[in-house]
This record gives sequence, C-alpha cells and structure tokens, in this order.
Amino acid sequence: MIIPVILSGGSGTRLWPLSRALYPKQLLSLAGEKTMLQETVLRLAATDDIGPVYCICNESHRFLVAEQLHEIETDIGEIILEPKGRNTAPAAAIAAMLVAEKHPGAIMLLLPADHVIRDSEAFGLAVSVGKVAAEKGELVTFGILPLSAETGYGYIRASVKSDGEKGVYAVDEFVEKPDKETAENYLASGDYFWNSGIFLFKAEAYLLELEAQAPAIVAACREALGKAVADLDFLRLDAEAFCASPSDSIDYAVMEKTTRAALVPLDAGWNDVGAWSALWDVQERDDAGNVKRGDVLVHDVKNCYIHATSRLVTAVGLDGHIIVETADAVLVASRECVQDVKVLVEELKRRE
Ligand code: GDD
Ligand code: MG
Repeated sequence: MIIPVILSGGSGTRLWPLSRALYPKQLLSLAGEKTMLQETVLRLAATDDIGPVYCICNESHRFLVAEQLHEIETDIGEIILEPKGRNTAPAAAIAAMLVAEKHPGAIMLLLPADHVIRDSEAFGLAVSVGKVAAEKGELVTFGILPLSAETGYGYIRASVKSDGEKGVYAVDEFVEKPDKETAENYLASGDYFWNSGIFLFKAEAYLLELEAQAPAIVAACREALGKAVADLDFLRLDAEAFCASPSDSIDYAVMEKTTRAALVPLDAGWNDVGAWSALWDVQERDDAGNVKRGDVLVHDVKNCYIHATSRLVTAVGLDGHIIVETADAVLVASRECVQDVKVLVEELKRRE
C-alpha cells in the first residue's frame, strides 16, 4: 500500500497578497476549482493502491485543513499538528514514524501541498514505476526536465541503471539550491533534472537514512511523537520536544548525502507555483494571453494575470503584468519581477 503524506507547512510568501500566514497558498484555490491541498488529494485517484491520507501542518491551520479534507471526503489517517515549522526533514520523520507503526512495510508518498500537476494519470504511472525501487529500500525522487537556471530547486544528475529497472535512474549527484552560476552550468550540460520535491520510500528506509545522517532530528521527533496528545481530530505534537529538533529540509539532511537515492522522470505538467507568474504559466489563457479570475474588465490588455477577489478590477493598455486585488491589499507588478514580492512581504513584516 502507498500512504500519501501531505506536507502543508509552508507559507508561500511570494503569492502575497492572497497567500497570508493564516491562509497560505496551499489552502487557496489558485489554479483549479478546489484548493491546492484538495487538488493534491484528488489527483491521487489516478494512482494505484493508495491508502489513507496523512497530513502534517501548522497547528494554526488545523481547522482549515480538516474542513478542506472532509469536504472532499478524504479517508484521513491522521492530521498531525506542528507547534512550529522545523522544515521538511522532521515533518517527514514524524509521518514516517506513524506510518511505520500503523502500516508496517507500507510505502510513503511525500507530497508538497502546493504543486500543480496537470496530468494526474502520468503522475500515477510515475509513482507505479518508482514503487518497485521503493519496495527495495531506495529513496525515490521524481525528476523534472529543467527549463531555466532557477536557483530555488534541487538539481539531480542521474544515469540509467545498469541493473535495468525500467524507468528508474541512479542518482549520481544531488545538489540542493545551487548558486546561479552552478545552476546555469547544470542546465547547459543537459545532465541534470530538477528535484520535484515529491518523494517515495518505505517509511522505515527514510528513518534509517535520517538516523544515519541526522540522528538529532530522529531523537527529537521520537520524543515529540511519544508525548503527542490526541486533540479532537488531530494529533498534537509535544511542543518542547519538537521545537528542539534541528530545522532542516529533507533535501539537505538526507537526499544530498544518501547513497540510496533513485530517480524517476516525471513529465506531467508539474509546476510548484512559486510565484504569480507561474499561475499565468499553468492556466488557460484567453486569445489575448490573459488569465482573469473574478470580476475583471480589460481593454487593450495582453499577457496579464489579473485576479480580483472583492471588487471590480479594470485595466487598460497593459502587457505582461500581474494584478492581484484583495480586500485589504493590492499588488501590481511586472510579470518578470514577481519573485521580488517576497521583498515586499519582508518589509511588511518589519513594519508590523
Ligand atoms: N509540515 C510542514 N512543516 N511542511 C513544510 C514545512 C514544515 O516545517 N516546511 C515546508 N513545508 C512544505 C511546504 O508547504 C511545501 O509544500 C513543501 O513542504 C516543500 O517546502 P518548500 O519550503 O516549498 O521547499 P522548496 O520549494 O524551497 O524546495 C523543495 O521543493 C523544490 C520543488 O518545488 C526542495 O525539495 C527542492 O529540492 C525542490 O526542487
Ligand atoms: Mg516550494
């Protein structure tokens, strides 16, 4: 059985002003009709042998997460609450400990809650391919053909395996978030994939590897889970023990170091929707190249993303812009500069 574990702890600051600390992007419907969290669960209908869904999120999001999972009638394994984000390695460790206990031998599919994947069938097929390697104890990542020298991704050099498992590559090198020059070299070489951030492994295999690479994370997580309390429909981790865990991502803590990594290429219209421009990229555009959501009226406007939530938004004579309107804040940006929205968010935090 494959147990999906959804990581829903991020805050998605580059999608401000819609994405906020109390309402992060994975809990919004940005690319489809359902929220990104719901889409993450619903797309699993095209993957074989899926068991109950585990979700790990910040305690402040618990009611939204529960409501959204119930609304789509998800078979919920557990909703685990973190007092504070300690990044993905501890979050995955907690989930792996629970999965190992409740579903011994099961394979865990670790899913970020905030990705768009257009082709669910292709995704399901890639998971089936990876399952064979995961059964053998390998840590499988899904690799995306890179389109640019983006520095916010992991880069993976992979080669076809000599023992010939179909569709599974050996990972020769995993480099998390390289600098620009290195990323440009990787892209030019044509030898690298982007890491999608989606992983498939036996819960026990991940814990063994984490124990070898970052034993302090395993120890803190064991204690946080040992002292966890059931609270309504949630499992609340012990705050003191969990906060004592080192904060690190699965990519740095495990994937860069392990010798047990394998890669399955994923060609399924994947996008991690890191910024507003990505929502323009992934959605259907009208004849003028515009994506319009909500009450929007334009004249002589092309290649724009315009999102209105609480009133009419109008625009004249624009090309390549982003406009996002909410009740208390409006963003107007050039499509090329939207990564810098995070600079605004940092400034706003300073002013609070
Ligand atoms: N529960 C929980 N707790 N979830 C978390 C936490 C946490 O402390 N921190 C992050 N997450 C969730 C985020 O919500 C997101 O869904 C996922 O884990 C990945 O975290 P990000 O913070 O978005 O990672 P990233 O984008 O910098 O990098 C990862 O994804 C890239 C692809 O999008 C890495 O895996 C890269 O190698 C990869 O290329
Ligand atoms: Mg991300």
